[in-house]
Amino acid sequence: MSMLKEEVLRLLRGQEKPVSGEQMSAALGVSRAAVWKAVAALRADGYGVEASTRLGYRLVSAPDRLDGAGVLAALGEHPWRGRVVVLESVDSTNNYLKKLAAEGAPEGTVVIADRQTAGRGRRGRTFESPSGVGVYWSVLLRPRAKPEQLLHLTALVGTAACSAVESVCGVRPGIKWTNDLVLGRHKICGILTELSLEAESREVDYVVSGIGINCNQTAFPEELRGMAASLRMETGRPVDRCALAAALVREICRMNETMFSQKEAWLRRFAGDCVTVGQDVRVVRGDVCYPAHADGIGPDGELLVTRPDGTREAINSGEVSIRGMYGYL
Ligand code: BTN
Repeated sequence: MSMLKEEVLRLLRGQEKPVSGEQMSAALGVSRAAVWKAVAALRADGYGVEASTRLGYRLVSAPDRLDGAGVLAALGEHPWRGRVVVLESVDSTNNYLKKLAAEGAPEGTVVIADRQTAGRGRRGRTFESPSGVGVYWSVLLRPRAKPEQLLHLTALVGTAACSAVESVCGVRPGIKWTNDLVLGRHKICGILTELSLEAESREVDYVVSGIGINCNQTAFPEELRGMAASLRMETGRPVDRCALAAALVREICRMNETMFSQKEAWLRRFAGDCVTVGQDVRVVRGDVCYPAHADGIGPDGELLVTRPDGTREAINSGEVSIRGMYGYL
């Protein structure tokens, strides 16, 4: 997309009221004819731009396309702007980013895809990633820390993802501990965080955190029905995937800047988002499964539970999975 088209799109996005051609030509330092041409080009790309001679232009719809131009237009100025890679199709955004990380890519490199051919979930599961309906998004972070100082990171990524969804869709999802985002008892987003260590120092070399959000699906395959849903199915409104991908860049960047200095505040926010707290759950550790009550969140994002015999336990992510008494939630 030409720079001017992108700039015009940025000025029109998020505006309830029309923006005049004169305003835009002044803001961008180009002629009104050039603005008009950019608007015509946006229409040719599938954007719905309403025009009234007196008032100006209003963006009424955007094509449901997840591409670099759309994401950058939605992102605007941002320190990570030059590090955002948007692909039409890839095996897995996490895999792709791990290769970039090994080649020395900087913190804040983000890989986004419209489709994954081998999307990965936790515990070796696959993550369905069809084109045209989801956001498959991974970020590279390089915190200077030992792995044990990053126990809270997965929780924080979940909470930051909730803020991104809230800013674009107007509803804040809950979090099923540790970091599945849920709306109306259905999973709408999964997160897979992977860590690479320096062998000698045992310091973290890099973290790749991958977020997969079901946005505009209208149905799910039989085997996922009952558990998975999309934002569109839960809110009744289609999602602007470019805006959501850009919001994730903003929220995860903010989280990365403050994950140590504001750790307690982040975990309070996470505890507020976490719908598992206060519930009776089943703790699944390998072949062993036992009932417990989820009381709260510990200082590193652990799930604090009490077993029927009164023993208390702090559960770390990775080690166990949590199920509701009657199914997924
Ligand atoms: C889960 O629910 O088990 C985690 C799903 C994580 C999916 C995302 S999509 C972007 C990134 N790339 C992957 O291959 N997986 C993650």
